[in-house]
Amino acid sequence: MHTILWQNLERAVQQTQLSKDTLRLIPAAGITLDVSAQRWSEDIAVAAQALLEHHQFTERRNALLNGGIANPTEGRAAWHTALRAAAPVREVADERRRVTDFVRLADAERRWRNVIHIGIGGSDWGVRLAVGAFGYAGTWRNVRFAANIDGHAMAGAMAGLDPHDTLVVIASKSFTTSETLQNAQRAIEWLKGVGIADPYQHIVAITAKPDVALAWGAHPNRIFKLWDWVGGRFSLWSSVGLTIALAVGVETVAGLHAGAAAMDHHFAHAPFASNAPVQMALAGVINRSILGYGSLNIAPYDFRLGYLVPYLQQLEMESLGKSVDLNGNPVAMATGPAVWGMPGTDAQHTFFQWLHQGSDGAPADFIVCQHADHVWPEHHTRLLANCLAQREALLNGKTLEQAFEEGLARGLTAEHAQSLAKHCTHPGGRPSNLIVLPQLSPYTLGALLALYEHKVFTQAVCWNINPFDQWGVEYGKTLASNIFTSLSGDNITNKPDNSTTYWLSQLKK
Ligand code: F6P
Repeated sequence: MHTILWQNLERAVQQTQLSKDTLRLIPAAGITLDVSAQRWSEDIAVAAQALLEHHQFTERRNALLNGGIANPTEGRAAWHTALRAAAPVREVADERRRVTDFVRLADAERRWRNVIHIGIGGSDWGVRLAVGAFGYAGTWRNVRFAANIDGHAMAGAMAGLDPHDTLVVIASKSFTTSETLQNAQRAIEWLKGVGIADPYQHIVAITAKPDVALAWGAHPNRIFKLWDWVGGRFSLWSSVGLTIALAVGVETVAGLHAGAAAMDHHFAHAPFASNAPVQMALAGVINRSILGYGSLNIAPYDFRLGYLVPYLQQLEMESLGKSVDLNGNPVAMATGPAVWGMPGTDAQHTFFQWLHQGSDGAPADFIVCQHADHVWPEHHTRLLANCLAQREALLNGKTLEQAFEEGLARGLTAEHAQSLAKHCTHPGGRPSNLIVLPQLSPYTLGALLALYEHKVFTQAVCWNINPFDQWGVEYGKTLASNIFTSLSGDNITNKPDNSTTYWLSQLKK
C-alpha cells in the first residue's frame, strides 16, 4: 500500500512543471507562505493526502499536540507546544512564573550586568537566535555564550567580564552533557578565583534533572525546570528562555510563545490545502524523495536572523536524519535533506553561484520582512529586491536566446555573444518557498519557528520515521567518552581501528 501511494505521488509530480502563472499563498499566524514556486496539482493534492492519511497523520498530530507518546523509541511525549500555550498546564505555568519573577527582580535591582549562557545544541541555538534577533542593536546586559568544548569558547566568553556582576546560566536538559559541565566548571573556578565565597549564588541551572543539578552544587531556588517530554531541540520554549528574558525582556519571550501558539492552532485546525506547515512539508518531501534534491538552502534576508540557519539545521537534521521507519525497517526513499545557508545578501556573494548554475541545485526557503526596523528605506528596498531577484532567477532561469540578445545589447559581436551566452544561461525550474513576515517581532519569529517544527513533523509522518530521537548523536557521545578515557588515562583501553589507534598513541604524547 505504502509503495503504491508513493508511486501515485511520483506519477502526479512527474506530470507537473513549475509555472510562472501560479500564485499560491497561505497565510498562517500573521505570516505568509508563498508556495507558488513548488510543484502542485490536484493530482498531487489527492496523492499526498492519501499518503498522510495512510500514516495516520491526524491521529499522530493529535498525539503530538496533546502530550501523547510522539517519540516511541524513547517512550515519551514531545510536548513542546504545551510550553507556549496561552493557558498552560499548572507545572508549566508555575515554572514560567518563576522565570519571570527571577528576571523582573534582577531587572528591578539592576543586577547581573553580564550573563554567560552555557549550553549546547538545543540548549544554545534558540537562545542565541532570539538574543541576536532582538538584541542586534545592543542590550543593557552583556550576554556571552559558551557551547563548544574547545576551551577558547569559554575563555572568550569570560574575557573582560567582572565576575562579581556576572550570572552564569547553565542550560542542560540532561545535566550530563560533557561540554556544558566542563564549561560550567571553568566558570566556577573563575568565580572562586576572584574570592567569591559562594560561586553558586552566581549560577542558574536549567534542567530536567534538578536532583543532578542540586548534587552538583546549584542552589534549589536557582534551579529552573524543564521536563523529560521536552525534546532538547525544542528547549527554547522552556525555562531555557530565561537568558532571552534577561537579554531582551520577558515580553519578548511572551511574544515568541504567542506567535508559536498561534501557529500551533493553525496547524491543528487549518484544512490540508491551506495548512502552511503541511503544504511546506509536502513540497519538501516532493523535492527530496521524488525530485532527488539532497539539500535545502535557507536564505533569511534579514541580518538579525544570523542564527536561524544553525537553529534550523539542528531542528531539521537531528529530526529527519533517519533511515529506519517506526517499525525498524529501512525507509525506501531519501529522507531529510542537508540544510545549509546564510543570511542574504552575504549568501549571494558566497554560494549563490552554485544555486544558480551548479549541476545539482537545491530548493531554497527565502525569508524576508516586509518592513524593516531601521530608518534607511533604500537599504530595505534593495534587500527586498535582492531577495525577489534570486527567487526569480531560480524559478524562471534564462534561455540561450535571452543570454545571446543580452550580449548583443551590450555591444558584443554576434560571435562573442553566442559563445558567452552558453555560460550565461540559467536552467530555472528550481523550487523555492518565500516566507514573508510583516515585521520581525517576537510574535512573527515564534510563528516562523513553529511553522518549521510542524513542517518537520509532517515530513516525518510521510516518511514514517521518528523525528524526536537522535540515536546517532548519542552514539558519537559514547565513543567520545571512551576515547577521552584512553587519551587521558595511562592505557589505551580501546583499539577500534588502525587509524584511530595510531592517533590515540600519537595524541597522548
Ligand atoms: O545534540 C544532541 C543533544 O542531545 C540535543 O538534542 C540537545 O539539544 C543537546 O544534545 C544538549 O543536550 P542537553 O541539553 O541535555 O545538555
